[in-house]
Amino acid sequence: MAQAQAHGTPAVPDNGIAPAAAHGGIAVEINGEHFAHTGDPQMPLLWYLRDVLWLTGTKYGGAHGGSGADLVLVNGKLVSAITQPMAKLAGKSITTVEGLAADDGTLHPLQQAFIDEDAIGCGYCTPGWLMAGIDLLKRKPQPSDADINQLPNSCRCGCQTRVRAAIKRAAGGKVGQA
Ligand code: FES
Repeated sequence: MAQAQAHGTPAVPDNGIAPAAAHGGIAVEINGEHFAHTGDPQMPLLWYLRDVLWLTGTKYGGAHGGSGADLVLVNGKLVSAITQPMAKLAGKSITTVEGLAADDGTLHPLQQAFIDEDAIGCGYCTPGWLMAGIDLLKRKPQPSDADINQLPNSCRCGCQTRVRAAIKRAAGGKVGQA
């Protein structure tokens, strides 16, 4: 059963399951839309995103989030979605990979840089890299290889070298230039 309700504009996930009416619940803002979670307060944010809202960009990255595939921004801070119970997120603003592009579909500069550098293999790890890369570029606008190597993400397809190039391309403002 869907356990979310959007306030204002109803949010209906692409799966066609309309969120059930909710009274009270844990209010969160996700990618600019407001929801109230009325299910288990201990449900990890990752499952709320994927199984309730069908925002499936954020991936399972291990029980403790070690691979970085489940990274999202909570109030602008990089966190592992599997480690965050909904009960801790009341009133918080969450950004997932689905919230990075502009309303007109223009990709975030780092998303475009990943395309420009062909930094996507199977794509499983990509949303996590994007969130971590955005966080890194906020903290260090010109990151070094060492800065990028310290990100908690991993890639089983071996794209790390191209991911580094993509983050550096975004840092240099050269996105969209082949
Ligand atoms: S692109 Fe496949 S795991 Fe990274």
